[in-house]
Amino acid sequence: MKPSKSKNNVLFSSLVCLYIVSILFAHGALGIRFPNQISQVPKDSPNLPLKSAVFALGSFWRSEAVFGCLDGVVRTTAGYAGGSKINPAYRSLGDHAESVQIEYDPRLINFRQLLEVFWSSHDCRQVFGQGPDVGNQYRSIIFTNGTEESRLAAVSKEREQTKSKSSIVTTQILPLGTFYPAEPEHQKFELKRNPFFLQLIGNVPEEKLESSSPAAKLNSYAAELCPTKIQQQIDSKINDIIRKGWPILREL
Ligand SMILES: *[C@@H]1O[C@H](CO)[C@@H](O)[C@H](O)[C@H]1NC(C)=O
Repeated sequence: MKPSKSKNNVLFSSLVCLYIVSILFAHGALGIRFPNQISQVPKDSPNLPLKSAVFALGSFWRSEAVFGCLDGVVRTTAGYAGGSKINPAYRSLGDHAESVQIEYDPRLINFRQLLEVFWSSHDCRQVFGQGPDVGNQYRSIIFTNGTEESRLAAVSKEREQTKSKSSIVTTQILPLGTFYPAEPEHQKFELKRNPFFLQLIGNVPEEKLESSSPAAKLNSYAAELCPTKIQQQIDSKINDIIRKGWPILREL
């Protein structure tokens, strides 16, 4: 072998390595939006029942989609909480805030991790609304059940406030009262905007969408709010189905 050729080979392999490393970095950078502990599964914990948490962070259409894709989240429900009006409805919700109830498996995700997603998914400093949605019904609230959750919420709010002192974190921390599920047409709203996705999960009747786990996930996917990796996994499952012909996505 000629010496000049092997020199070229070395140069070529170095370039290939550099290229691969730069790809890895680019992908790492894409994944920073969600806390990475979420996918760690404690293997030896006992079989606990599901827990539930409620947050208000602007329009409940989007709030459902923020949480629906996370590992350990089993169900999401859009609804009303934080006010005193009995049986609120969309056009007359009184002093309630649009909220999302999250049912989760505490072996896979915990309240502290849900708080991290809560803070990173809305502007807690905007007064009286979120983005273009203006009004009291879009205020930011962490609902807590018990002293430990109240403590975790308070600590996380303080941490959020220290990030910048130039504006006030408006988020309220309230003991969880009654959560009123919203009307069926407001459940999985992002998913319903795309009839093709509804077809993918077998055109589940509207009332059933509320309690469906695949619907919660696909709702999040439709809003492009899944973590990048999961977004890509679902992309490829859907492409697979399109290639094969007639749908149904049985699991996500
Ligand atoms: C509050 O927590 C207790 C004990 O952890 C649980 O039994 C109860 O169902 C919770 N309440 C709500 C509304 O989630």
